[in-house]
Amino acid sequence: IRSIISRPDGGSGLAGQKARIGGWVKTGRKADKDAFAFLELNDGTSAGNLQVIVEASVYELGELVATGTCVVVDGLLKIPPSGTRQRVELRAEKVIHVGPVDPAKYPLPKTKLTLEFLRDFVHLRSRTNTISAVARIRNALAFATHTFFNKHGFLYVHTPIITTSDCEGAGEMFQVTSLFSEAEKLEKELIQNPPPTEADVEAAKLLVKEKGDIVSQLKAAKASKQEIGAAVVELKKAKDNVSKVEESVYTFGPTFRAENSHTSRHLAEFWMVEPEIAFADLKDDMNCAEAYVKFLCQWLLDNCLEDMKFMADKFDKSCIDRLKMVASTPFVRVSYTEAVEILVEAVNGGKKFENEVKWGIDLASEHERYLTEVKFQKPVIVYNYPKDIKAFYMRLNDDLKTVAAMDVLVPKVGELIGGSQREERLDVIQQRLRDIGLPPEPYEWYLDLRRFGTVKHAGFGLGFERMILFATGLENIRDVIPFPRYPGRADL
Ligand code: 4AD
Ligand code: MG
Repeated sequence: IRSIISRPDGGSGLAGQKARIGGWVKTGRKADKDAFAFLELNDGTSAGNLQVIVEASVYELGELVATGTCVVVDGLLKIPPSGTRQRVELRAEKVIHVGPVDPAKYPLPKTKLTLEFLRDFVHLRSRTNTISAVARIRNALAFATHTFFNKHGFLYVHTPIITTSDCEGAGEMFQVTSLFSEAEKLEKELIQNPPPTEADVEAAKLLVKEKGDIVSQLKAAKASKQEIGAAVVELKKAKDNVSKVEESVYTFGPTFRAENSHTSRHLAEFWMVEPEIAFADLKDDMNCAEAYVKFLCQWLLDNCLEDMKFMADKFDKSCIDRLKMVASTPFVRVSYTEAVEILVEAVNGGKKFENEVKWGIDLASEHERYLTEVKFQKPVIVYNYPKDIKAFYMRLNDDLKTVAAMDVLVPKVGELIGGSQREERLDVIQQRLRDIGLPPEPYEWYLDLRRFGTVKHAGFGLGFERMILFATGLENIRDVIPFPRYPGRADL
């Protein structure tokens, strides 16, 4: 439908051509004493619909008009009579398929449905103009992400999600039980028994080759303790290989946080884009983040304007102007200490914040929004945060009080990106682990990267849903991911 109605001529140039169209009825009505039905069909490719006209002689009209019905028709494209909105319509010659709907039972019968109402029907809500526009914007941003990083020579890597270490130190880990507790039990058994011989390792290698996946490895390994030992050796080797990535890379995948937040900015399962740049310091990191966000904004203006106009009409008049502003304006950069000074000044000038402002606090969303929406009215990068509120792997600055961290804050959303230059000095990072009270063992592989060929490097994570919130102007993060997961919602 998009390829017809989104042409510069609105599809009128296609009049006279035959077409096969499939879609779902947005609104349908019988007219002219039931001689015709007018169907507004939408197939998810565009916020606009194609009008299809079916004569009673072609099909039983009563079966077609209910909202939600799936209809596939062959027909002829025609210029509609003057006075109608459409530039082209389809006269049905044959109805190929009908997926009927009982209007009494269809949950989305009306056209004006609130986003909140739709959250209870996530499996059907992509049929609405808003949610399908968001899906197309999301798709465009994903494509733009891969385009940006590949253009700049980054390698797209697939990193594992299951781990036992809480890397952000935030205690927000989900527990993956059954399979992995089984693995742990087996590992313990191994420790109590003599290590495997070389022959066992060879046998286990064969076993691993034969069985292929972890579950079958472990099941098969149960057969003998020596085989268990060998399987564990193999698994450890595989784990070691994961950490030997030495180039600038990025990953883009789901992230899980068991934080019990019911805010409009947090999900339990969200998607993050994470580049990691070799030979880079904090400034390079900020430059990369700024260039990437600008690229995303420009991409939507160049490739997704129709959907952006829809969002502007329906939700947020300024969303297109915001994209233009971000794409063309340098981001403000202030140190954390300066940011706190600005906020203190605001408090002294009468501004009320719910959260106290003083050096050492983690900036709250109200502070971030003050900086981006009131003070600067553009994206702001805050850098050099107090070390005590940031993760252990961030590079300690010479003042020994702050780390080379940076957050990109944007109007409407607050924190969009969190990143840092990483601590590349072995002795410093070991000391930080000790200071924080983290045991070094689980991090040995990470420390190896400093022992063997260390170099300065930096990276960041962009919250993909926050980017979509920023672009569309929608208020709730649960509306920009197809199937949101948050406390209390683990299924549809
Ligand atoms: O600032 P965060 O916690 O940084 C990291 O996770 C680093 N490991 C990233 C890195 O350096 N590679 O998270 C990064 C971004 C945040 O700025 C925010 O946009 C988003 O991820 N985010 C969330 N989005 C939705 N729901 C949540 N619960 C989120 N938590 C973080
Ligand atoms: Mg953060």
